[in-house]
Parts: sequence; C-alpha cells; structure tokens
Amino acid sequence: MSDRHRAYAELTRSGPVHEVTLPHGSPAWLVTGYHEARAALVDPRFAAVETPLAHLLDPALRAATESSMLSMDGPGHARLRKLVMAAFTRRQVERLAPRIQQITDELLAPLAERGSPFDLLEEFAYPLPVAVICELLGVPEDRRGDFGKWSQITVNSLVVGVEALSAALTEFVSYLRELIALKRAEPGDDLATALIAARDGGDRLSEDELTSMMQLLLVAGHETTVNLVASAVHALLSTPGAWDLLGAEPERVPAVVEEALRFNGPVQTATERVVTEDVEIAGTTIPAGAHVRVALLAGNRDPKAWPAPEEFDVTRPPGPHLAFGHGIHLCVGAPLARLEGRIALTSLLSTFPGLRLAVPPQDVPAAPGVLMNAFATMPVVPGPAPR
Ligand code: HEM
Repeated sequence: MSDRHRAYAELTRSGPVHEVTLPHGSPAWLVTGYHEARAALVDPRFAAVETPLAHLLDPALRAATESSMLSMDGPGHARLRKLVMAAFTRRQVERLAPRIQQITDELLAPLAERGSPFDLLEEFAYPLPVAVICELLGVPEDRRGDFGKWSQITVNSLVVGVEALSAALTEFVSYLRELIALKRAEPGDDLATALIAARDGGDRLSEDELTSMMQLLLVAGHETTVNLVASAVHALLSTPGAWDLLGAEPERVPAVVEEALRFNGPVQTATERVVTEDVEIAGTTIPAGAHVRVALLAGNRDPKAWPAPEEFDVTRPPGPHLAFGHGIHLCVGAPLARLEGRIALTSLLSTFPGLRLAVPPQDVPAAPGVLMNAFATMPVVPGPAPR
C-alpha cells in the first residue's frame, strides 16, 4: 500500500498529468494533481465511457451490464441517477442506522467472545457492507456468497482479462435476472422492487438498465465500503496513540472517517474517461480520443492542496477530499458509506479498546489492482477485554 502511495507521490511531484500504460497494455493519461483532478471531473470534455474490456464482451452481455449511469453523461445519466437518488439521501439513509448497528453487533459479538486474533477484513469489514447492500436491495441471504466473487472480478477486469470477466458477468447477470423475476412474483419492501416499479415520467427502466443498475449498486455498494473500514482501522492502529484518543473522544469519529477517506481512500482512480477534444492541462495536451484516469488517491495527498498530506491526522478538520469523486458522477452511496464507516468504527472502538495489528503496519498486504485501493487481509489482535 505504501509503495502505491509512493508511486503516486512521485508522479504528483513531477507534474499534474502523465502518460501511462495500463495493465492490458493500452495507453492512458493519469491526472494526479488535486486541482487538476477536480477540474477534469467537472469538465464535460472528459466523457464517461464503458468499463475497460466491455467492448470485447458478447453484445447482449455488454448491454446487460453497461447500461448504467456510470457509463454515460448528459440526460441519460441524469435520468438513471434520479431513479435511485431518493433512496440514498442522508435522511433516508439515517433510517437504516438501527439495522446497520444490529448487523455490526452480531458480527462483533462472536469475535469478542472468542478473544483470539482474527482477520478484520474477512470477519467484519467485508460481511458488514455486503449484508447492508443486500438487505437494501433485497438479495436473499443464501446467494450473498456468490456475488462477492463476481464483483471482485468485475472491478479487476484489467488484471483478470476478458475471459474471466465474461464468465463472471454471465453468472452475475443470470443471477440478477432470477432476482428480478423473484421480485416481480413476490414484491418486497426493498430497492430492487422499487426499481422494477420505478417510472420516471412514465418511463420504465428497460431490462438491461435494471440489471446494470442492480449490478452497479451491488458492486459499488460494498467493494468500496469494505476498504473504508479496513483502511481507517489500519491508519488508526499504525499511528501511535490514535486508537486510544478516538476511544476516549468518539465524537471525533465522523471527522476521522473523512480523514481516512482522504488519507487512504478505497478507490485509486475515477472510472475511465475519454477526452472529446484536445485538452490542455498545465502545458500538456491530452489528444482528442485519449483515455484518462483521474487519480483520486494522488489528489488526496497533493501537497498543493493539503498541509502535511502524508500524515494521518485524527485532528485534521474535514476538507473537500476526492474519495467519492466529484462532479456529476459524485458517489450516490456516500451518505450510506459514511454511516456504515461511523457505526463500524464506533463499535470497534468500544468492543476492542485494546485492538492492535498482528503484524507491522507495512506488512499488511494490499490487494493488486488499478481501480480499487484494497487490503488483501488485515490480521488483528483483539487485546485485553474491556474492564
Ligand atoms: C467508502 C465507500 C465508497 C467510495 C469510496 C465510493 C467511491 C465512488 C467514486 C469515486 C465514484 C465516482 C466514480 C467516477 O467518477 O468515475 C462513485 C460513484 C458511485 N458510487 Fe460510490 N463509493 C462508495 C460507496 C458506495 C455505496 C455504498 C454505494 C451504493 C449503495 C455507491 C454507489 C455508487 C454509484 C451508483 C456511483 C455512480 C454515480 C454516477 O455515475 O452518477 N458507492 N463512488
């Protein structure tokens, strides 16, 4: 993880925009400066495009997974986004707090009871957001294991290649179609049922839009939040005195969640954009048609935007970090992610006041990938039980 940050920092030091090669060999431009990143994310010349490798998929599979708001701009994007925004307002999301707390307590109780070292990622940070997004959408409990696997593959498409991507998406879409049929037969009090019924000025979602929307929400709704919890814990346990300070002053938790998002956010770059005409950034011209990645991770540590950016500072006042993106694609789920992060941290602090990493901080392994910024495991020791 620190190698990744070092590489981004080196690029940022040498300028705000760079020509790079992505893992499957295709060229792209990387925007690393904070101010340049914010400008690019609101600039309509940086147009949304499909997921990498999507053009190599079977056309029906491509339509069933790429008809989502993240792959488009303009009125098409606004129409799809409006359909789900109502479910993710801060007020709507706050209503989920008691249930999120209950799921959190149910996950932490057996770990506290056991009292032995555990993998925080596998046993807590992962199952929590999966349970939350599945309940919100109405995914039955017996199928939750499967989609984690598919989802990992979709966010790592460039690393796993088109064959693995195609196989995972085929299973994912077939499962989503089953789920849609189930909700049509037995409507529930959930977001999947609401989306099926949704009309936007008499305009129903097509089947492809439904599967794409549900896939996006399921994937975006958990892959990221897992690492918000994991990276906040990692940063707190790697900074002397931070866990104790926050345990003594839990009212700081919301600000610390923001600092964790800035310091080591779950997403390395925004999804790929393509420039519709030549665009000049700080004297460098990105030619029309080039693919661009805006490096959120780099912008969030740009010394031109943040004092002492390499420091995880639990007392830093929250600022406009880029972890949730910026502009029209700003994360829909941010209020939910923040709520989950706050409940998770507050509960971990009170359940495990003596929590510590089981290995030196630099030995906690990062997962490979160029989109997500994820840990692979997070071994922790619960420490002495609270008195
Ligand atoms: C800490 C957790 C999260 C982080 C760091 C995060 C980050 C992001 C980022 C950076 C984007 C913009 C991508 C771009 O511009 O290319 C985004 C978009 C999105 N996120 Fe999140 N996200 C998180 C949690 C969630 C959750 C919980 C949900 C859903 C329940 C969600 C749903 C979405 C959706 C639907 C979009 C697309 C918005 C659009 O295209 O208009 N995210 N997220």
